[in-house]
Amino acid sequence: MEQKIMKRRTILKGGAAAVGLLGTGASTAVVTSVERASADTAQSPLPDQILSAIERFRETIPANFDRDYIEKAIIPFFLTSFYEGERPLLPLIDVNFTKENALPYDLWGLITRDWRPTPEAGVTVFLQGLEKRGPDNLRKRIYFAAVTPDLYKPMYGAKVVAFFDKLMDQQFANKPFMRHYLDYYFDLYWDLHLGVTGDAIPFEVRQIGEAFNTVLAYRNPLLPITYDNYMIVRDRLEFLKSWIDDRLADIENGKIKNPEKTIAWYWLKNAGDGSHFAKKDVVFECFHNFVALSQWGNSIFGTMSRLAEDGGDPAVRASFQKTMSGNFDNANGAPFTPLELFVMELFRVISPNGGSISAIHDARTSAYGASPQQRFGFPMERYSYISTPHTSTSLEPVHWKEPNVFDPQRYLSVPTSAQITEDKCQQIGLARCPFEITNFQVKDGRKANVTNSGFGTVFGVVDGKSFPVCDYAGFAPFGFGYRRCPGEQLTIQVFEDFLRKIWRDKIVFRKLNLASPGQVPIGPNAVIDDDLGFGRSA
Ligand code: HEM
Repeated sequence: MEQKIMKRRTILKGGAAAVGLLGTGASTAVVTSVERASADTAQSPLPDQILSAIERFRETIPANFDRDYIEKAIIPFFLTSFYEGERPLLPLIDVNFTKENALPYDLWGLITRDWRPTPEAGVTVFLQGLEKRGPDNLRKRIYFAAVTPDLYKPMYGAKVVAFFDKLMDQQFANKPFMRHYLDYYFDLYWDLHLGVTGDAIPFEVRQIGEAFNTVLAYRNPLLPITYDNYMIVRDRLEFLKSWIDDRLADIENGKIKNPEKTIAWYWLKNAGDGSHFAKKDVVFECFHNFVALSQWGNSIFGTMSRLAEDGGDPAVRASFQKTMSGNFDNANGAPFTPLELFVMELFRVISPNGGSISAIHDARTSAYGASPQQRFGFPMERYSYISTPHTSTSLEPVHWKEPNVFDPQRYLSVPTSAQITEDKCQQIGLARCPFEITNFQVKDGRKANVTNSGFGTVFGVVDGKSFPVCDYAGFAPFGFGYRRCPGEQLTIQVFEDFLRKIWRDKIVFRKLNLASPGQVPIGPNAVIDDDLGFGRSA
């Protein structure tokens, strides 16, 4: 045994020394602890191939990169593993796979000054384990109160419609669409969150938003474009936070016109004593939503690409024609309108978000005492995450007879969140619901509850009317259960308005066939050739 440990130690020390070779980026802390760890063991030389591989890697890090960036973003990026999780049979993810800090470690520097979780400076529900959210997922319910579907038409819809009208004004026809979208996008983003738009948005605030999206889109931390934008985000983060803080004060003091038409207003009104949604958390949510709403970009691009006259998807185009030729806003007693069903099906096939990310518990601790890192004081922490897949779950033949057919009607034969009751759970064969059904009464003057299904899926009931979602694992684009996307219905409503505009104005999308289209960062992991434009059909 002793011999085995010695052997492992030697290898670890060699490995750490190897990381020390990363050059300017290798911290003194790393090097010192490596020296400490190796004091009692003889240095074994690294095989030449590894040494030269490390040397080659070192050479790929541009010399001007900041030391902290190398240590806190590049190294964690390469020490991170992502595993593909199960395709769930029920729309649930067990709490063993936690949301607590479930952010790829190299990205923490984008949202915190210290490059690591610092809950004392504010948290987002997106990165909170269920056990930290207050009773019955309270934090999520407060968040959700701001985006229940009843609010869309009176509060947010006009902002969205005006945005699309401006975006698709005739003067912008036959021009690259996505660059143009991004140029306006932050007007809509800040208008929805804080009621601020146009010139009232400072340059720094626009700049950090664009830089944030660029990092998420390019993702590779070794690229100069990623580095430059990451550092812009870090540079502007404190400015942004204090700007948001001041605007929240404006909302509270009535200095913003129609404050009830902002998302933040509902968060502030429903936060109670703030113990589960403090003001600093509202600030945090306001900019963490950069991640959430950035997905509208790739969803818009995915929609345009499928509807395009040349190279579009004939089944999607035919379904759009059929939906819009009927009474598309009339649900006729069904839980969803025809247009809503169409958008849901669009999201199932576009699947703009590949998987729900969870942090995992290190089972080495229970299996054999401790992780090698803990046991040998090895200072390089590994980071591992599980992704519960969306696309393959949405296309799983266990869930749908014809998963590859574009069929908006499919959601009429599977349960909604309002139908997943105690009885339904027992009918499935469970002894009880995984989540007790409870209600949170909103405190913003509406007669509205934020309730949940037996699977934990949160949804609204306003003036006695339920606004459920499809609570079926085969519909995966917005995730599952207690951690499912609260912005799902807002997103669907936004896309309904996008499609109404397209239909009403006879908008068509076409390839521009540009010789060298611009590269545009339109969403997480998505940099596209900006080669689609719009026109009007005769
Ligand atoms: C195309 C648009 C969007 C897509 C595809 C999307 C997708 C998702 C998915 C898959 C999750 C679950 C992640 C997980 O369980 O790990 C999620 C969570 C979340 N989303 Fe969205 N989202 C979108 C838009 C939005 C919008 C517009 C908002 C806010 C207004 C939002 C806010 C959130 C929040 C706060 C969570 C965390 C929920 C929780 O952990 O309880 N998202 N989103």
